[in-house]
Amino acid sequence: MLQNARIMVTGGCGFIGSNFILHLLDRYQSCRVVNLDKLTYASNPANLRDVEGDPRYQFQQGDICDVDIVKQLMANVDVVFNFAAETHVDRSLMEAGSFILTDVLGTHVLLDAARSHPNVRRFVQVSTDEVYGEMPPGVYAKETDPLHPRSPYAASKAGGDAQCIAFFESYGLPVIITRAANNIGPRQHVEKLVPLFVTSALRDQPLPLYGDGRQVRDWLYVDDHCRALDLVAREGQSGEIYNIGADNHEENIRVAEAILRLVEKPLSLIRYVEDRKGHDRRYAVDSSKLRALGWLPQHDFLSALEGTVRWYSESRWWWEPIYAGPFRDYYERQYGQRLASGVPYEAKGGASA
Ligand code: TYD
Repeated sequence: MLQNARIMVTGGCGFIGSNFILHLLDRYQSCRVVNLDKLTYASNPANLRDVEGDPRYQFQQGDICDVDIVKQLMANVDVVFNFAAETHVDRSLMEAGSFILTDVLGTHVLLDAARSHPNVRRFVQVSTDEVYGEMPPGVYAKETDPLHPRSPYAASKAGGDAQCIAFFESYGLPVIITRAANNIGPRQHVEKLVPLFVTSALRDQPLPLYGDGRQVRDWLYVDDHCRALDLVAREGQSGEIYNIGADNHEENIRVAEAILRLVEKPLSLIRYVEDRKGHDRRYAVDSSKLRALGWLPQHDFLSALEGTVRWYSESRWWWEPIYAGPFRDYYERQYGQRLASGVPYEAKGGASA
């Protein structure tokens, strides 16, 4: 399915997309990859500088909402992986229009082009466990569960997923949806929790922990995610949904403490700050359906975190320019007031809070 395939990856200059392109080119000697990426703030062409000269790889700057570009590329591919998305919950709380455009309309444009090109034999929609909404303690979302997206971001991804199902049911388009847990690893934009906390710690800046810091996420190493996507594209069933979870469930406060220990910085850098609006308490998926295909994560929480921390520690060239650019304004809007009125770690009793 992928060895000799012509593969379109959208959003390939972003975090998971770039890791996935490197995975494909490494694993499949005779595949060809075209990367359609709009180059938003969250993507970085340097993510793929190692493969720029590779004759199997082609970059096309463009928007998945652009019908002409999408149709043109779709005519010459066998498999599509849609990573292109606006993904940051905090940004979606400030402005959700771009999320609707890319995650909903963009997905529709891709699906519509794929349906008129029978050469497309697999369409993988890379989605998120956030579409299920928050899970009570001890409960794990199954693929058959109803969707309860609670943030504008999660709602936009749920809209994309719903269209994928509609295009499978209506036109028989060979779509597969994956819903992964929180990814970590090299080249994730510093706006997300783990890279923000790692780079803040390396800069001796405070770590802004929302609310009581007891929210739980499942931390999936990006390489494990890439292996899962590769597997479902080959072995999954059209019209099916596959959850991707590593069972590395940790509270945010524990993540913050583990990061500070790894970079050998004081726990006093942790600052409790005003909570996120509508903050989902816990995400958790049941990924037994994927595991039945033969997938197992290779990284537990600590190994995933260590790999991530090592990369950011060695890659200041990659993330320091982000702090010097437009991210500064975002950081100030998101964290300026919050940090000014934040509560020190010690004041809440530290690790035993
Ligand atoms: P995030 O990386 O934004 O992923 P998501 O909200 O999509 O799961 O956040 C992960 C968790 O970390 C979430 O519970 C919110 C929390 N968080 C903070 O406490 N402080 C921060 O500065 C950020 C960005 C997130």
